[in-house]
Amino acid sequence: MKTIVLKEDNKKDYFVTEAYRTLRTNMQFCGKDVRVVALTSCFPNEGKTTIAIEIGKSLAEIGKKVLLIDADLRKSVVVRKYTSEAGVLGLSQFLSQQATEEDVLYHTQYEGLDMIFAGQYPPNPVELLGSTSFKAFLEKSKEVYDYILIDTPPLGMVIDSAVVAGFCDSAIMVVNAGKVRRVQALEVKEQLLRSGVRILGVVLNHAEGKKELFSKAGKSYSRQYYKTYYRYSGGSGSRENSK
Ligand SMILES: Nc1ncnc2c1ncn2[C@@H]1O[C@H](COP(=O)(O)OP(=O)(O)OP(=O)(O)O)[C@@H](O)[C@H]1O
Ligand SMILES: [Mg+2]
Repeated sequence: MKTIVLKEDNKKDYFVTEAYRTLRTNMQFCGKDVRVVALTSCFPNEGKTTIAIEIGKSLAEIGKKVLLIDADLRKSVVVRKYTSEAGVLGLSQFLSQQATEEDVLYHTQYEGLDMIFAGQYPPNPVELLGSTSFKAFLEKSKEVYDYILIDTPPLGMVIDSAVVAGFCDSAIMVVNAGKVRRVQALEVKEQLLRSGVRILGVVLNHAEGKKELFSKAGKSYSRQYYKTYYRYSGGSGSRENSK
């Protein structure tokens, strides 16, 4: 298998890293049947891809074998943003039988973290993502990987992630704290639940960090600021989530 180098996010500080570690721990406590996890959101730019990559790295760091699949077949920027490569074959070519598993699977520089990129934009993303070959591939990959994380497009815009979630055992909703209304988040939650997937919880991204919270209390904890703060609710999809 080829290796591809993912560019590092140098802006990440201790508190952000800790937030990802806590998210990792919470995922592990959700049980052994949490193995194939879709990440979705209402709208673009809420942080799905960033969080998928960071959870992937964080799980690999503790010795888990992780496959991260970029299933945003419509407008993925992952190759362009995170690598220096071009023309990388990916999921769209694999599912349309233009490329083999070997062609699209990449090791990354992080031991234990492998990736499949989205590939070229296809005319029929929903058909490809809902295909039995994708389902069969995920089943087979569960024999090799401890976790399969699937980054998807926003469910408030296109149906793709609900289709993918149908093949997953769980889903995480990423919510931009300042931009998404409660009613919009609930609509997406309902749509996800209709696909039969269990919602693990909500990552509340771009949220007010601890600095502000502490300074309001008149204290000075200037180094406590971090942007990636999330509120997480465990339990099955039938329960009310925290947002
Ligand atoms: N907690 C955060 N603090 C600051 N910037 C963030 C945070 N989370 C994500 N970002 C930035 O926001 C932008 C959008 O993030 P990302 O690409 O992960 O979102 P996305 O939900 O995958 O978007 P899309 O739906 O377009 O695929 C990126 O530039 C990313 O670096
Ligand atoms: Mg994305």
